[in-house]
Amino acid sequence: MTITTCVFDAYGTLFDVAAAARQAAAEPGNDALAAIWPRLAEDWRRKQLEYSWLLAVTGDHMDFWQVTQRGLDWALEAAGLDDPALRARLLALYWELSAYPEVPLMLAALKQAGMNTAILSNGSPEMLAGAVQSAGIGDVLDDVLSVESVGVFKPDARVYDLVGARFGCAKGEVLFVSSNGWDAGAATGYGFQTAWVNRAGLPMDRLPWAPAHVLSDLTTIPELARSL
Ligand code: LAC
Repeated sequence: MTITTCVFDAYGTLFDVAAAARQAAAEPGNDALAAIWPRLAEDWRRKQLEYSWLLAVTGDHMDFWQVTQRGLDWALEAAGLDDPALRARLLALYWELSAYPEVPLMLAALKQAGMNTAILSNGSPEMLAGAVQSAGIGDVLDDVLSVESVGVFKPDARVYDLVGARFGCAKGEVLFVSSNGWDAGAATGYGFQTAWVNRAGLPMDRLPWAPAHVLSDLTTIPELARSL
């Protein structure tokens, strides 16, 4: 079915989630972080996602900013870093994560081809507004959809329902793009056409649903969307 609407996960897909720890590690005075930042970034992300899934399963909810802070606190303690100034700096950097370099042109090409473009993310509206603004991609996005309007995290189907509700499109007209294998998989099960952006060359997740398209970055998304 022809694609009318391209929808992107935010963190890890459009925005580089490791950038906050990488950047803080390069700043003066953060020598302890410099030695271990990749591990801290990985722990932070893993705990953030684990907490989001657990809250979705139990029906509890707190917004992604709270989940992000709690994940960081776990990662800092695991690394033996008790440094409130570093914590504050890492959190501030999370609001201005860099977008991957191909993102602005890729989104502009989709708009030029007449497609709807949007973010669909666990992020709170405020976090997403900060990231979109600092990446300068607001003009090439028709909307930024946050799970906060349904009060549950991905991969709950109510989140994916936000796309059809906003754009009035059928599931099969949507190309959903995520760097998170579980998100691309669950969106496939939901009925979207999907692409998994596998920058790290990870194995395919062993879930009941496999994304049909696997890409190493976002450059060829406009070509893929036009070909479906
Ligand atoms: C998001 C997380 C899952 O942006 O990366 O929704």
